[in-house]
Amino acid sequence: MEVTFKMIAKTFAGLEETLAKELQALGAKNIETLKRAVSFEGDKELMYACNLELRTALRILVPLDTFQAKTEDEFYDFLRNQVDWTKYMDLMDTFAIDAVVNSTIFTHSQYIRHKTKDAIADFFKAKFRRRPNVNAENPHITYNIHISETECTLSLDSSGEVLSRRGYRTEANTAPLNEALAAGLILLADWDKETSFLDPMCGSGTILIEAAMIANNIAPNTLRNKFGFTQWKDFDRKLWRAVRRNAKRKETKNPVEIMGADVSEPFIKIAEKNIERANLSHCIDVDQISFQQTEGFDEKGLIIINPPYGERLIDEQEEVNDLYEEIGDTLKTYYSGYEAWILSSNDEAFKHIGLKTSQKVSLYNGSLDCNFNQYELYEGSKKEEYEV
Ligand SMILES: C[S@@+](CC[C@H](N)C(=O)[O-])C[C@H]1O[C@@H](n2cnc3c(N)ncnc32)[C@H](O)[C@@H]1O
Repeated sequence: MEVTFKMIAKTFAGLEETLAKELQALGAKNIETLKRAVSFEGDKELMYACNLELRTALRILVPLDTFQAKTEDEFYDFLRNQVDWTKYMDLMDTFAIDAVVNSTIFTHSQYIRHKTKDAIADFFKAKFRRRPNVNAENPHITYNIHISETECTLSLDSSGEVLSRRGYRTEANTAPLNEALAAGLILLADWDKETSFLDPMCGSGTILIEAAMIANNIAPNTLRNKFGFTQWKDFDRKLWRAVRRNAKRKETKNPVEIMGADVSEPFIKIAEKNIERANLSHCIDVDQISFQQTEGFDEKGLIIINPPYGERLIDEQEEVNDLYEEIGDTLKTYYSGYEAWILSSNDEAFKHIGLKTSQKVSLYNGSLDCNFNQYELYEGSKKEEYEV
């Protein structure tokens, strides 16, 4: 029987439950939601599958050691003397360190990174008279240090590059949505994968691409070959191939309509290129048109909109209010029968949608505190009938 161990999947605030459901579906055990993370247990095969198949995870960490430290010296001493670093890396391997610090004693994550690097370097120097090199960009091994007050956890980062970098988006507009967040929106909206899907302000196409992958059960990181674990000493190439094959077998051919639009011609060109890179051109149609000029084409459908937030300039508020009012008007006039979800950080502009919110989910888009609001569009709905 394969050895099972604890893992931590990191995600965005507000997506913990969604990620927990994904983990359940993959067969993870002892799932527990934490703040911006979910802990669970499983074996190496599950770890590989999590990196390949989880849509809302950012990293999969494997905790190695948890220890108490009340001073910087105690922190250094543990890492220098109690960890056998040769279990994870050779002298010639390069490494990087991520640190997340939430403590009144240790206040600088940069300093913690330095101390960890010193402990590793001193450990190797004492043993081999030489030290391994740091490579922040493209390391063989990434360690993660998490400090909560005096409790320190050293983990291996099995993902390496963040999992939201799926590899299909090399060109983006100025405000592209994170890929894992985009997938999270679609999962939160609980799309049945049968009714048509529309993102009328698609920018670089992130939501559309994630929707097409969800509709066809395509693993989100199918384009990626490199993960943290593929560089580990215990990397099992045969098992990895089997995990990939298993994910491939789950793919379906879903004829559901997935459509995107954007008012900007250059963004539509970028979206088309990204969609092509994701090998999804046959699943998604995009068009250059403003939302206000469109009409629903079906009896029902799911619309997800990530409109401009107008956060940067105070002067923009009025313009953004008008845009949101037009979005609301277009939805209720031309999209009855549809369900719409809008992600925005602009509470003032949200009021101008003029439709009753049937669900509100609080999410972060980067540092922006956002709401993801649901609107159910009934036949003959009028603005006056709705409370704002
Ligand atoms: C926040 S960005 C969307 C980013 C997108 N989710 C991505 O991942 O790239 C908002 C988009 O709305 C588009 N837009 C603004 N007003 C529009 C309108 N009236 N109709 C259609 N698109 C519009 C902009 O061109 C921009 O691409």
